[in-house]
Amino acid sequence: MIPITQPFLPKKDEYQKYINEIWENNWLTNNGPNVRQLEDRLAKYLKIKEMLLVNNGTIALQLAIKVLGMKRKVITTPFSYVATTSSLVWEGCEPIFVDIDPDSLNIDPERVEEALGHGVDGILATHCFGNPCDVESLEFLSESRGKKLIFDAAHGFGSKYKDKSLFEYGDISISSFHSTKLYHTIEGGGIFSKDERWLEKVAFMRNFGHDGSEKFQGIGINGKVSEFHAAMGLVNLNYIDEILLDRKKLSVFYDTLLQHSGVRRPIVSSAGESNFSYYPIIFESERILLEVKKRLEESDIFPRRYFYPALNSLDYVKSQSCPIAEDISKRILCLPMYYGLTESDQEKIAEILLKAL
Ligand SMILES: Cc1ncc(COP(=O)(O)O)c(C=O)c1O
Repeated sequence: MIPITQPFLPKKDEYQKYINEIWENNWLTNNGPNVRQLEDRLAKYLKIKEMLLVNNGTIALQLAIKVLGMKRKVITTPFSYVATTSSLVWEGCEPIFVDIDPDSLNIDPERVEEALGHGVDGILATHCFGNPCDVESLEFLSESRGKKLIFDAAHGFGSKYKDKSLFEYGDISISSFHSTKLYHTIEGGGIFSKDERWLEKVAFMRNFGHDGSEKFQGIGINGKVSEFHAAMGLVNLNYIDEILLDRKKLSVFYDTLLQHSGVRRPIVSSAGESNFSYYPIIFESERILLEVKKRLEESDIFPRRYFYPALNSLDYVKSQSCPIAEDISKRILCLPMYYGLTESDQEKIAEILLKAL
């Protein structure tokens, strides 16, 4: 069986060392030494000043929306994972969907500009598949119009824009460190901002608002990370360069195998650098996609329709038309991509795909 993805697992004894230490310290959660060490090591690795860990990417999104005071309309993309939209709705915001650029598959800044009207608190944009958005246009728009900007960089670990980590941009960027991501802490998420004010507030918010045991700094939630999760992150960080290199190698090999297939690939902007975390391909029609998917599944290979359906069609949002995202989401399929996928697996996938086409 070839699944869409497989979590990376480090050598067991490396993780075991941390587990033994947790047993010795008897410190399981509540901002323990592994969490603090991982925050420092991640900031150094990403060449940023600081970051905060939380228990998943969805909570990271909700904290970002809350701390930036987004309460009303928020402009967002119809082409992302459901958590991008559901977090807005969960926080009481109204998502205003604007369509995507058909090449990058990211939110189109020109359409954002048109939608930036009265009652809009900000923008929530996703770097789809780790492919950087038009960061500068979105930053310019949000700053010049006095709006807040969040980047959902759940897929963005290792991606860059103008040679800097993608997490450096926007008022706040968030990431997911879920097991299916190329860098993971089993479950986990990160919050990034150049503005210390937001991080100081989030540090309270992720721990119920506690400021010591008897005082509170506003409302909070449980966004804490356990020492076991942080330990997985510490060990996995030792492998991240190898994982990123492997992803690039897999992606380049798929490119070679599929060069005459006629399938289309998202385009990375010249200022951006992708982490090759996914391998999405766009077919001419949904009918062809379904046929390819069926043939692969018959051979025990499981690609995934990612992202499908377009988020503007969810039944808990106001109906809004986004023809490009609706069309792409019907025709896009992610091929298996994970550390450990072999060239012969890729050849088998490509052979079935080409035959089906
Ligand atoms: C674009 C995007 N945003 C947010 C999330 C939510 O992250 P988590 O699963 O860590 O809650 C995901 C998860 O896959 C995602 O793909």
